[in-house]
Amino acid sequence: MQDTYSMIKPEAVTAGKVGAILGQMETNGFRIEKVRSLTMDRKTAEKFYDVHKERPFFGELVEYMTSGPVVGIHLRRDEAVSRMRELVGATNPAEATCGTIRFLHGTSLQENAVHASDSEANAQRELSIIFG
Ligand code: CMP
Repeated sequence: MQDTYSMIKPEAVTAGKVGAILGQMETNGFRIEKVRSLTMDRKTAEKFYDVHKERPFFGELVEYMTSGPVVGIHLRRDEAVSRMRELVGATNPAEATCGTIRFLHGTSLQENAVHASDSEANAQRELSIIFG
């Protein structure tokens, strides 16, 4: 069993997609260990996205991720990190495979419905930022 972290982003929470997305995760074999609804402050969002701090979209990303509530999720299954990346789909919803969460619920490259950890180390780091 492996842990991973996923986060439902503000536009998907506002659009009432939380239940559908959590359901899709469960249907795909993930066990939900913890769920936390929160609005990230600037400091938390900057720390969370530290890896992107030199990217041109960093400022906009922090603005967006602090614009409303998100839902942080601690999930577990075998090969959880890679399986969740598969289920979430490509960063750009327009390029995401049919049936993936971003294909179904994402609206743009930035407003792409969910975040999913890209490695086991990042999953642990992100879990500790959100769940302590
Ligand atoms: P995610 O992969 O969860 O983490 C980085 C986020 O930055 C990404 O989702 C998008 O929400 C956002 N983003 C905005 N612009 C870009 C871009 N040009 N390339 C990649 N990610 C972007």
